[in-house]
Amino acid sequence: MDINERIPAFDDAVDRTSICSMKWDVAEGELPMWVADMDFATAPCIVEALRQRVSNGTFGYTDVPPTWNAAVAQWWGTRYGMSVEQSHITFTTGVIPAISSLVRSLTNVAEKVVIQPPVYNIFTNSIVNNGRRVLNNPLRYVDGAYSMDFADLERKLSDPLTRLMILCNPQNPSGNVWSADDLARIGELCARHDVTVISDEVHCDIVRPGMVHTPFAAVNDLNRSICVTCSSPSKAFNVAGLQSAYFICDDEGIRARAVRGVNTDEVAEPNDFAVFSTIAAYTQGAAWLEQLRRVVQRNKDHVMERLKRDCPGLIRMVPSDATYLAWIDCSGLLEHTGERTAERLCTYLREHTGLVLSYGGIYGANGERFLRMNLGTRADLVIDGTARLIDGTHGYLNA
Ligand SMILES: Cc1ncc(COP(=O)(O)O)c(C=O)c1O
Repeated sequence: MDINERIPAFDDAVDRTSICSMKWDVAEGELPMWVADMDFATAPCIVEALRQRVSNGTFGYTDVPPTWNAAVAQWWGTRYGMSVEQSHITFTTGVIPAISSLVRSLTNVAEKVVIQPPVYNIFTNSIVNNGRRVLNNPLRYVDGAYSMDFADLERKLSDPLTRLMILCNPQNPSGNVWSADDLARIGELCARHDVTVISDEVHCDIVRPGMVHTPFAAVNDLNRSICVTCSSPSKAFNVAGLQSAYFICDDEGIRARAVRGVNTDEVAEPNDFAVFSTIAAYTQGAAWLEQLRRVVQRNKDHVMERLKRDCPGLIRMVPSDATYLAWIDCSGLLEHTGERTAERLCTYLREHTGLVLSYGGIYGANGERFLRMNLGTRADLVIDGTARLIDGTHGYLNA
């Protein structure tokens, strides 16, 4: 699909400057393409469910009803072929509140947790803020593609203090979708070394049209028995502000500790809108999501092609199958400028073009030569942001 093919519900202007949006808290003329939420209005079925809920006028304590469990189970069953026992799903107020709590309930202070940088930076916070230690198993980056270093992973998992691995599936920021083989190998290694896996699958619904996400737990019974899957409609349906997420865990022992943990940490009770938005998304939102996936792919194709055409040898978008994030390799440009990281480039782009991106170094040391660009926005802003990126790249080279 070409960027000039407009889709009204997604390409209409939506004002986010007057609603305390974190992303849009920028100076006039700046274009924010950083934090991972989208500029699209959410699915009409969610808006309608919330409207009905508001019209009731009472906002007391809310229970999680069985229809919520049924909606989540049906979503994973029909979309990903993962049969989910409804009583194995636990509501949480966010993926990160759940992960931080799981780190506390499944490990002891000073024990180690494996992550695979470049990866969503808040995993590190969830580990170190709780007095646990990060053990990095860096992803390999060869010829513009990421893969896992299994030999290094096994070394890290065999450390007797390693108790947990946090997997990002699909991966933020690279947009990698892990194969069933990769996931089975992780499961085998983790089981061998008695390491529990948290599989963060919050980006699973936004994969390339025609492609299907593989949940870590759906690969085989072994994976299922050592894993806690965390997810939420927040990324795919753009409802991060409603603070609605969940985890799925089949193993009785892990689940008992995990459920106890989120209750002790007080992150297991919904606000009035969390439950209704999730039920609406998962029972009526599939058609809207298909449109979204097409729009995201259109946006990614535009950036990929423009950078290929206008910035050869300088910056390029890493090909990816998931997320609305573009992971931009700036190695060529940095070779010209003799720099080790893209940090100054990131600042330059903001100061000289107004384009606000995320510096890749925040996702781990092997992300230092990259920038992350959020393409969850309407076509005219994608065109504008890409043009600013191209102009800024040439300006930086010649500065
Ligand atoms: C991989 C990943 N996990 C979790 C989150 C945040 O989830 P929540 O807002 O539900 O805590 C994000 C947000 O960008 C993310 O990319």
